[in-house]
Amino acid sequence: MDPGSGMRYLVISDLHGNVEAFRAVLAHAARKRRDAVLFLGDAVGYGAAPNQVVERLRRMGTGVISVRGNHDRVVLDPEQGAVFFNPHARRAAQWTAEVLTAVNRRYLEALPVGPRTVEADLAICHGSPGDEDEYLFGEAEAAQAFAAIAAAVTFFGHSHVPCMFERTQADGREGVVGVLLRGTRVVIDLDPARRYFINPGSVGQPRDRDPRASYGIYDSDARRFTLFRVAYDVEGARRRILGAGLPAILAERLQHGA
Ligand SMILES: [Fe+2]
Repeated sequence: MDPGSGMRYLVISDLHGNVEAFRAVLAHAARKRRDAVLFLGDAVGYGAAPNQVVERLRRMGTGVISVRGNHDRVVLDPEQGAVFFNPHARRAAQWTAEVLTAVNRRYLEALPVGPRTVEADLAICHGSPGDEDEYLFGEAEAAQAFAAIAAAVTFFGHSHVPCMFERTQADGREGVVGVLLRGTRVVIDLDPARRYFINPGSVGQPRDRDPRASYGIYDSDARRFTLFRVAYDVEGARRRILGAGLPAILAERLQHGA
């Protein structure tokens, strides 16, 4: 591993206590070469297997480069849920705080706040560079995000929607173009002269009407990003949420990817 010389990264975000989805993603990615893992935050919240998910992250060791997500923050102080979350998310945060083991809680406490520089020209954050609670949905928000960070490529999460914002320059004018990334395998060769914000989608609670878990592989040397969608045991994750007594809507939305 030689930072700065071009690495291959597994890019994962928004696991949300869904160990069935996380397991499927790790199995799918197992035979792909990787030097490190980029984790964009939200290990917990919503799903009913927070300890299992954090334990898997912990077992992956020092090869995981992480930033904290807003749910990782709120479960450490569920009172915040009253301010930031809808009632279902708040209930899940309270439940997660109750079941989280001490060692897993410490892991969440130690997650650094983004943004983080991973290597020259590559950064990660959860929501937007300046605010882990801010959603980057549209081109206007993305334009502000580009102004806030210098990296050529920034991976972000939080919206649970696989997408890419590309900053273009033509005739001295700057523009930002956003595209949704749809499909089972989407390969994107990034233009070295342009800058990008890329969301690999959510492992544990997709919201783009495709219920399959979402993740990416990024080759920083070739500047190639590949998005993958992976079918997983949705029914198992759904039953686990219902069995924990969490709001049924958190189970149902996994079936619809919404
Ligand atoms: Fe999230």
